[in-house]
Amino acid sequence: MACGEFGLGRMAEPIEILAAIREKLSTGPLAGKHVLVTSGSTQEPLDPVRYISNYSSGKQGGAIAKALVSQGAKVTFISGPSSAEIPKGVLAIRIRTADEMLEAVKKSLPADIAIMAAAVSDWKPINISERKVKKNDSYLSELRYDQNVDILKYVSTLALGRPGLVVGFAAETENLLENGSEKLSNKGCDWILANDVSPNMEVFGGEENTITFISRNNSSNWPRMTKELVAQKLVNLIIEELC
Ligand code: CTP
Repeated sequence: MACGEFGLGRMAEPIEILAAIREKLSTGPLAGKHVLVTSGSTQEPLDPVRYISNYSSGKQGGAIAKALVSQGAKVTFISGPSSAEIPKGVLAIRIRTADEMLEAVKKSLPADIAIMAAAVSDWKPINISERKVKKNDSYLSELRYDQNVDILKYVSTLALGRPGLVVGFAAETENLLENGSEKLSNKGCDWILANDVSPNMEVFGGEENTITFISRNNSSNWPRMTKELVAQKLVNLIIEELC
């Protein structure tokens, strides 16, 4: 074995070997930086066949991960259910619930940068039915909920090992600047990308996004652009900030 011992050993998973090779070979301004990206939606089960979720497609998170890899970063991509393809060159961790996303984030730290693009369900049912709920059951009217842990806030307020730059999103249907700024200060992150997710904007599932970028002492309205361009603009700002 590599350590010089003889006997039965366990080979690392091929995906881990590939990620290690990529990391060694990567070049670019973000080479050597570990970036954590959350993406997609989460699903909170009600019974064996139903869940609470949202319309997030995971396209924006995937585009960000792709742009980071292209600049040499080592990316851990923690994704809830999503129809978008997993970007090449990331270490992908698939999860389903917000609790699983939180555990995956904890296991993946430390990181130099964290970008929380996932649309995490705020609530989870606590009385999940073990059997399929029938239409005449009173279950739905008796459903009880618990709030999920705010993963962005957890990472932003870590006393030890907080990533140097923590970026969140704000999904809003009104008052983007006001609500986004409130999220920035309540959650303790460094930047917020607020986006208008009203149905007429076609952000969830669509190819384009309109961002209000908010930092501690600045804000700017980005013109409507493709999610790939939003990702590149964000990654350029990260490079300016950290490199
Ligand atoms: N977020 C998170 N964990 C949660 C909820 C949200 O990490 N349990 C993160 C999202 O990934 C995003 C940011 O917090 O980066 C804002 O998410 P958003 O859905 O806009 O806001 P909420 O915090 O859920 O607040 P509200 O639903 O009241 O607008």
